[in-house]
Amino acid sequence: MSTATRAEFVSHSPGATERFGEALGRLAPPGTVVALRGDLASGKTCLVRGMARCFAGQQDTHSPTFTLVNEYGVGPDLYHLDLYRLAGPEELADLGYEELFDGDAVCAVEWAERAEALLPERRVDVRLAHLGGDRRSIACTDHGALPAGWEASLAAALQATP
Ligand SMILES: Nc1ncnc2c1ncn2[C@@H]1O[C@H](COP(=O)(O)OP(=O)(O)OP(=O)(O)O)[C@@H](O)[C@H]1O
Ligand SMILES: [Mg+2]
Repeated sequence: MSTATRAEFVSHSPGATERFGEALGRLAPPGTVVALRGDLASGKTCLVRGMARCFAGQQDTHSPTFTLVNEYGVGPDLYHLDLYRLAGPEELADLGYEELFDGDAVCAVEWAERAEALLPERRVDVRLAHLGGDRRSIACTDHGALPAGWEASLAAALQATP
């Protein structure tokens, strides 16, 4: 089992969270599952919008409320799942989550706690939290998915000017 590495960041604006997501999308090797957790409006979709910018054929990113899963890029390169309204595990099975998680596309999963037991071991956990106003904490734990030095790359994305 690989050891987990953890880092915590602070975003001061939606734009910064998007840039953070874009940097994460660039770092994440094909097939990486990014498990997003955090309260309502903590910025999960905002972060995924940034991730989607990394891939060709990008479109506006909104939560896949009715379909549970949206696709971005060719292939596709990114699946965006939002499990907030998941009725139960059988709905995930219908979705073919194993193929999604085992495939070559990056999977960004909002409300990942709804699929806790189904998440692969090798993944990135991201927890967002409100810090007041537009500030959000973004805690990331990499479980063997990201390249060494990922913490510095993500920190740099937050420091870049809008
Ligand atoms: N630093 C920030 N990062 C991200 N979003 C921010 C930030 N500051 C303010 N916001 C606002 O917070 C909201 C975040 O919405 P978003 O849809 O990304 O949240 P979410 O976590 O996906 O919520 P939900 O659980 O409903 O899916 C947006 O309205 C955004 O403009
Ligand atoms: Mg959302």
